[in-house]
Amino acid sequence: MARAVEQFTCQSCGETYRKWQGRCETCGEWNSVVGEAVEVAVPKGMSTGKGREIIFTALDTDTTDHVRNLSHIAELDRVLGGGFVPGTSILIGGDPGIGKSTLLLQAVGKMALKGAPCTYISGEEATKQISLRASRLGLANAPVQLASANSLRDIITSLEKVSTPQLLVIDSIQTVFADNLPSAPGTVAQVRACAQELIRYARKSGSAVILVGHVTKDGQIAGPRVLEHMVDTVLYFEGDRGHQFRILRAVKNRFGATDEIGVFEMTDTGLQEVANPSSLFIRDTDKSLSGASVFAGMEGTRPLLVEIQALVAATSQGTPRRAVVGWDSNRLAMMLAVLDARCDLSFTACEVYLNVAGGLRINEPAADLAVAAALISSISDIPVPEKSILFGEIGLSGEIRAVGQTDARLKEAAKLGFTTAIIPAGSKIKDSKMKIIEVDHLAEIVSLFTQSTPITQVV
Ligand code: TYD
Ligand code: MG
Repeated sequence: MARAVEQFTCQSCGETYRKWQGRCETCGEWNSVVGEAVEVAVPKGMSTGKGREIIFTALDTDTTDHVRNLSHIAELDRVLGGGFVPGTSILIGGDPGIGKSTLLLQAVGKMALKGAPCTYISGEEATKQISLRASRLGLANAPVQLASANSLRDIITSLEKVSTPQLLVIDSIQTVFADNLPSAPGTVAQVRACAQELIRYARKSGSAVILVGHVTKDGQIAGPRVLEHMVDTVLYFEGDRGHQFRILRAVKNRFGATDEIGVFEMTDTGLQEVANPSSLFIRDTDKSLSGASVFAGMEGTRPLLVEIQALVAATSQGTPRRAVVGWDSNRLAMMLAVLDARCDLSFTACEVYLNVAGGLRINEPAADLAVAAALISSISDIPVPEKSILFGEIGLSGEIRAVGQTDARLKEAAKLGFTTAIIPAGSKIKDSKMKIIEVDHLAEIVSLFTQSTPITQVV
């Protein structure tokens, strides 16, 4: 038995209320609570009625069907943990215009060209528009099953008629609607119901289903965070629209690691894979400038060299500006406080700007040392030593802590022609051709910059 009741749901986080209210108490969003009619199933005699018996199995149940289907886009396969697992669901989010549709069209196109049946259903673009894009991408001949549709019922019915796709793309989940629900497409109830049905289809048919999700202005997948719980894998496609680089990042993956990234470059013929991203994020010159340092970072299993730029400028304003692109602003505030309290280096009368080159976003604490070096270099107007890289985490007392994967970082730096590494004391190094400068405390970095002779001669 089911009865329809009105329920008020926050379109941002999915929290439900009995009454309308102007602000969601859970996520703090204003005007996001919307009334939706939902069907409440009233289970009859739940405690006494008999259900179907479930079969319990052991953990070592046959896993041989865990084959993976490759998208033939190596960067995408890497982020997925080695390709698509049949029967799973993947949610991909990202700002509008970042290239989600392009990436997925390239994936279905390539797979179809290799003979795998693939279906691409768009609720946003007409088939003609998609075909035009496909011809631009050089995929006009790919035998993709292409359709433009919005009704979930039509989509599921049609999927049963065609050969089961190895990959099914729904672009986007917000445009699909179930006609048995009274709420509008894109609302939490609709998105949840449609996603549930498509995930069920994936499990039943063995297709991998990709759902494209819109993101809200603060960067979360729109409406339903609930979707993130339902799917097996959540990917974010990010990047700065002013730059051509795009990063595909896994934030949840039931079948692989979540710290892998895929790097792409948007060109006029679609997204191209970037196999060696380090060379993209550093300048290709020998000349060192003050305020710039090179951080030897890790993204998942892959080392990635990135240039960090800082600008410290004097100001007469009472509250000087601090602006950060690509790094955590709280971490910058902490770094400035540590430099002030532990190294007597005051930034109080200065505006501070910090930028990670190439539109990349860094989350690793190991970047602290490179950031500190860029800041000190900018305020002292002395360049960081030529051909040097830095990494290390900085603690509140100014101590520099060792970080993992030292060898991989050093190897990548050496490969790209760097000769000096400024790293935490006590790092375990197997063997490296690079000149290693071990530092124990942030004050040592500061003293390196305040000496008149270049650092390379000091050590
Ligand atoms: P799109 O895939 O439509 O973004 P999303 O689905 O995430 O909203 O990307 C569209 C953008 O990509 C658009 O601004 C144009 C650009 N683009 C290229 O630069 N080159 C190309 O070959 C294609 C197809 C798109
Ligand atoms: Mg799109």
